Amino acid sequence: MSLDPDDLLAIGEVSRRSGVPVSALHFYEQLGLITSTRSSGNQRRYRRHMLRRISLIVVAKRLGIPLSDVQEVFESLPLDHAPSQRDWQRVAKLWRQQLEVRRTQLDHLQRELTGCIGCGCLSLKACRLLNPEDELAGDGPGPRRI
Ligand code: FES
Repeated sequence: MSLDPDDLLAIGEVSRRSGVPVSALHFYEQLGLITSTRSSGNQRRYRRHMLRRISLIVVAKRLGIPLSDVQEVFESLPLDHAPSQRDWQRVAKLWRQQLEVRRTQLDHLQRELTGCIGCGCLSLKACRLLNPEDELAGDGPGPRRI
């Protein structure tokens, strides 16, 4: 399939339009998040719709979504055309669920940390922050056997 030259952007142009440094674009390409073709002069050329994929990566980064999770989601997105509004809604819904799980985990950690502030034992056995599998920590913060 021959590509429309008007549809192809040089890496500098992609960087300028997306605000993503060239080095990061190289990295995203290594991870398979975006793809390029080569010009006759062996320079990278990105199809215009890659800007949408890059926008999704930028959003994920702002949300603190790890690139490994982005990779997983991108496997279900088309590489030959821009993600549709429906694709974006599906991804946004998934990421919102991940943020909710993370918020719950952070709330839990915050409660444990609050208990540790009143304790200060830093016990490798008793402190739930240091020893998350500790069974006695379920009885409350602070050392249980002292
Ligand atoms: S400092 Fe964490 S339980 Fe004591």
